[in-house]
Amino acid sequence: MVQTRKQAREATPVAAAAPSKQTPPPSPKRSKASAAELVDEEDRVTFGIIDLLRFLGGAVLLCSTLSILITGDSYVWGKEKVARQYWNVIRKTWTTPIYMDEATLALYNGTDTALPIYLSINGTIYDVTAGRSKYGPGGGYAFFAGRDASRAYITGDFKNDLTWDVSGIDEQRVQQALGHWVKFFANHDTYIFVGYLTKTPKEPPADKASSSPEPEQEHTADEL
Ligand code: HEM
Repeated sequence: MVQTRKQAREATPVAAAAPSKQTPPPSPKRSKASAAELVDEEDRVTFGIIDLLRFLGGAVLLCSTLSILITGDSYVWGKEKVARQYWNVIRKTWTTPIYMDEATLALYNGTDTALPIYLSINGTIYDVTAGRSKYGPGGGYAFFAGRDASRAYITGDFKNDLTWDVSGIDEQRVQQALGHWVKFFANHDTYIFVGYLTKTPKEPPADKASSSPEPEQEHTADEL
């Protein structure tokens, strides 16, 4: 016959009622002191933000130690690229963005080797020094350095379209082509977010100067 725990307990009242040999009944004085101690202890055992950070730090340290012991050469289980991408997101959250005008950005085109190489896309500036072979002088994409050439990323015209002005291009094409490169730089593992370009409005052509100018098409990173 199968007995429930309750039935089993009821069936053996003597054993259940028998005082434990190991735990003698506490004296009233002792139990009073314990209650006070417990209250104190309860106050002491709070799990604050510092404890949480300590716990997380310890977990990360343990995980990294295990990774280096097991893989022999990686602190992040061989996922350096993903780890750098996450790190870039965290860093972007903490970084105070720098706002730069076009003339200042032009100084960071790679010709001055003491400076990092910056480029801007859709108004967001990245440090692409890690890609010096491509963006530095003589590199295949050197024309992207020190400026925002968003239009050229869409059209592929690397002579005439080195401008951020994408007006007149089909919206869907902008979303697709520019969006691709916006994500490329935002998610790149070695290019670093720097800040934003303060764009100088383009002069309208002489024949349109008198008419009211079209508002510039602005694309947020989320839109692309
Ligand atoms: C709209 C047209 C194009 C745009 C906007 C574009 C843009 C770029 C950019 C920004 C990079 C650098 C990626 C990085 O930082 O790692 C790159 C790399 C590269 N592109 Fe293009 N590209 C275009 C068309 C082409 C075409 C048509 C070819 C082939 C004939 C090509 C061949 C390459 C190669 C081989 C690389 C790698 C260079 C390297 O790693 O050193 N691209 N492209």
